[in-house]
Amino acid sequence: MRDETIGGSRETSTPCWTREQAAGIKRSDATVAPIVYPPEQETDDDVHIWDTWLLRNRDGSIAEIDGYRVIFSLSASKELLPGKRHDVATIRYFYSEDGKTWTCGGPVFDGDAFGSRQWAGSALYDDDGTVYVYYTAAGYRDEAELSYQQRIAVGAGGAVTTDADGLSVDGPWSHEILLEPDGEFYEREEQSRGMIYTFRDPWFFEDPATGETCLLFEANTPVSESDNPYDCDAVHEEFNGSVGLAVSTTGDPTDWELQEPLLESVATNQELERPHMIVRDGSYYLFVSSHKHTFAPGLEGHDALYGFVADSLRGEFEPLNGSGLVATNPASAPFQTYSWLAYPHSEELLVSSFFNYYDLRGLSLDDVAGLPPVEQQRRFGGTLAPTLRIELDGAETRILGALEHGHLP
Ligand code: FRU
Repeated sequence: MRDETIGGSRETSTPCWTREQAAGIKRSDATVAPIVYPPEQETDDDVHIWDTWLLRNRDGSIAEIDGYRVIFSLSASKELLPGKRHDVATIRYFYSEDGKTWTCGGPVFDGDAFGSRQWAGSALYDDDGTVYVYYTAAGYRDEAELSYQQRIAVGAGGAVTTDADGLSVDGPWSHEILLEPDGEFYEREEQSRGMIYTFRDPWFFEDPATGETCLLFEANTPVSESDNPYDCDAVHEEFNGSVGLAVSTTGDPTDWELQEPLLESVATNQELERPHMIVRDGSYYLFVSSHKHTFAPGLEGHDALYGFVADSLRGEFEPLNGSGLVATNPASAPFQTYSWLAYPHSEELLVSSFFNYYDLRGLSLDDVAGLPPVEQQRRFGGTLAPTLRIELDGAETRILGALEHGHLP
């Protein structure tokens, strides 16, 4: 297909989030979330938490185990400056009976996971009760200097037990690197020209129409200089986000083959983070989070949840609401939440995220990094944000309101 975009077009078989579509991004009543204030009670008193995902069954529904549900969150000690948390991220799990108050069960892994730290992922509660925690191995175990290599990994073989005291998710875990960028569909670190490359955030998904077992992930498309139909100064090389796809032909949750990406945003945006898919009435809704600063020059986006819809897994994804914008922060608090996760609930979508930087009064995130430590801490939420309620009507969405912080019914 030919991708007609502002300033040029490019030959690709993958649907593209075009510059023209993204140029339509604009805050509106339907897409701006209510302002967020600090909660009375944080998700956890000792750790900052950010990217969070639910333990789910193969069909994507939330796993209920003896009346409990389980979330996994990236976490780091609250004593650490918020900007440093990515360098030491550890996956912790929390459980809840009412979906409102969460009890921390501790770190999921005990130091044997791949990477010098672990970034976002997803978690499968398989039909036989086995738990698979997919994660991003960032850097290498015991590396002397922090590196930004990213590999997609799994801790397989976990089990959930419950007793009068609560719930426990335990190993022994069998860790395996599942996927690395191939350099053709997916850019390797040494090919990348712009800001930090991406190959991360695995998301387990089973296609209800075909039963195909898939892993979605965040990546970048290799684009060479000679492949520059855009009349906009190399932005195609530096801003080349994609949503990657791997398939398990046997259904084995540890056996994956890379396929072509599902969506690209070459010349539009560098990071299509934490991709995930929801199927409703035969329509495939693909959601990603992205940042204001990862849009290519000439485009004005926001830290926001963006969405796309197609009529099949490998369909022609079109942006929701015309531009892709589904939920963003108010202009007066543009960084108050991030890393959204949508899931179906009755007729609506619920969208969880974390409480990020607030009370900035016009400061940029770079300004915040230059503030004294106590001022940085004061402005960082590091806890679950209010859950948004969203109406989904074909290719249109509307924010209906919000539940309490961390309420995940
Ligand atoms: C989004 C994100 C993820 C990554 C994590 C690292 O908030 O950038 O893509 O896995 O943060 O902390």
